[in-house]
Amino acid sequence: VPTILIIDDEDKYLELCRRHMPEHDFLDPVRNFRSASEVLARKRSEIDLVLLDVHFDIPEEELLPRDKREFLARGDREKQLERLRRSQGFRILHELRRRHPDLPVIVMTSQDDLPLEIDAERLDAEDYTYLLDDEYLDARSLRLQVESVLTKTRPSPEADGPFYWGVTRHMADLKRRVSILARGQLPVIIQGPTGSGKSLLAREFIHDRSNRSGAFVAVDLSTIPDDLMAAHLFGVVKGAYTGATSSREGVLARASGGTLFLDEIGNLSLELQKSLLLVLQDRRYRPVGSVEERVADVKLVVATNEDLGEMVRSGRFREDLFMRLNPSTAVRLPSLMERRDDFAALLEFFAQRVCAEPYNRDLLEQYAEQRGLHVPPSDEAFNVTVGRRLPAKVDLHRLHLHLHANSFRALHDFDWPGNFRQFEMMLSNLVTFTLVELVEHPEQIEHLEDGEARPDVVVVRPRTVAELLAPWARDRGLRVATGEGEPADDGSSVLVALEPAESLNAVSCAVERQYLTRLYHVCDGDLGRVAEVLLGDADAGRKVQLRMNQLGLKLRDLKRARSG
Ligand SMILES: Nc1ncnc2c1ncn2[C@@H]1O[C@H](COP(=O)(O)OP(=O)(O)OP(=O)(O)O)[C@@H](O)[C@H]1O
Ligand SMILES: [Mg+2]
Repeated sequence: VPTILIIDDEDKYLELCRRHMPEHDFLDPVRNFRSASEVLARKRSEIDLVLLDVHFDIPEEELLPRDKREFLARGDREKQLERLRRSQGFRILHELRRRHPDLPVIVMTSQDDLPLEIDAERLDAEDYTYLLDDEYLDARSLRLQVESVLTKTRPSPEADGPFYWGVTRHMADLKRRVSILARGQLPVIIQGPTGSGKSLLAREFIHDRSNRSGAFVAVDLSTIPDDLMAAHLFGVVKGAYTGATSSREGVLARASGGTLFLDEIGNLSLELQKSLLLVLQDRRYRPVGSVEERVADVKLVVATNEDLGEMVRSGRFREDLFMRLNPSTAVRLPSLMERRDDFAALLEFFAQRVCAEPYNRDLLEQYAEQRGLHVPPSDEAFNVTVGRRLPAKVDLHRLHLHLHANSFRALHDFDWPGNFRQFEMMLSNLVTFTLVELVEHPEQIEHLEDGEARPDVVVVRPRTVAELLAPWARDRGLRVATGEGEPADDGSSVLVALEPAESLNAVSCAVERQYLTRLYHVCDGDLGRVAEVLLGDADAGRKVQLRMNQLGLKLRDLKRARSG
């Protein structure tokens, strides 16, 4: 059971949390920094998350900083104390960060005049939320954030085969479905944008789990000239046409007993679509120039990034073949942008993978030797982590690639048109560039902000990240991504992706996100005006902010989009 510590001077939110989130364990609350640090000193390893209030109405001697002389000397004593109380949470967070850099913290406040996001980000809080003193809304908002932080910080599943599913619900559901489709001889359609893992899924997951003893044979139909396609698929007998000087097997025969993966199926001519239909219906086909029929025993997996349904409507794909391919169970792999909930875990997975590439592995070994880190035997992976949180302790059996918060954000916010293919390449470059410099110029090793030099931490320079992203950003113009596509330019419409598997709630959230984004811009970024439009109450900006929070819309991103 996840354990949560609340640091708050009142019991109100603790009670609310216990009522509405019985699935988590809430420790008794602590009311000041001293008690918090005592609890953490004893139980840090048991605590998964901290909820931290900002305003602490507590006696002067409990307030941070301990030595207040300088602070109080800056103005009227009572006013200064009041200021300390109103922002005490940030001082606590600052201290927590120094002692427990990897502890996830959500900052919460019901003071609507605080620029919460600025301090929360500066101090690297996991998330923040404005509360409304409305039990139902507050509980819902807190629960969403608690859930999202807990899923993010849960350790990524151990070696899951080469296809990485990540830690989100959506992907877990998809995995379950694909595992079922993998069995037996049902054909499978895989859809998804370029680089989303279609080929990998077919080869490493579906074929593996199909328990078919034959081979996996992949054909990319976009690379085979039309006039050779039939011979390639079905084989050809000697003398069938000029040039057919010997008989050749087709891929159907080669994949017999196994899996035939037809990539870019949209390239198949209507005539060959007909032949393929016969394969599916009667398990029979005829090599080019042959009178004899042969039996086909393949599991057919097809992939495309075109919309086959649309191709059927426009007459470019046979409806009977489409229906035979089992379209109601088509698998759609999400883009990297759609998997951003999982970004930290994806980053870690791919970083580990690129670190195993021979060239990077060499660099890692050189670096490790120079700095006295453990070098694993060559058949064992380097233990590599990556992220914007420093691991608390030095560990000579692990190397941490440390990203500055801005770099993490730049990678997170990027729209990755080439999806995982591009992401992997980028990370590989990042590791190479970072390590080459350090291995060749060990004197340039960057020290951490507090001057500490840690052999187990490699600081990735923000400039390296920026330079690697720059060519792409220039070409495409960086956008704020809502994850569901952009609202139309004139703001008169929203985009809804038609995914039959999507829940109604996901669809309405997507619409709401786009609507709020648009409205925010139309109102020149003035939340009061947005609230006026939505609720008829210009003073309800906080409600709007709360809702944006729940929808995962970050004011920071919206503001940046306005200025950029
Ligand atoms: N879920 C994943 N887990 C691990 N690696 C992935 C995943 N998705 C994609 N990749 C990696 O990204 C790269 C592109 O994947 P893949 O070739 O399967 O994409 P694709 O959808 O077939 O692209 P295209 O439409 O261009 O053929 C590969 O290097 C693959 O290993
Ligand atoms: Mg592919």
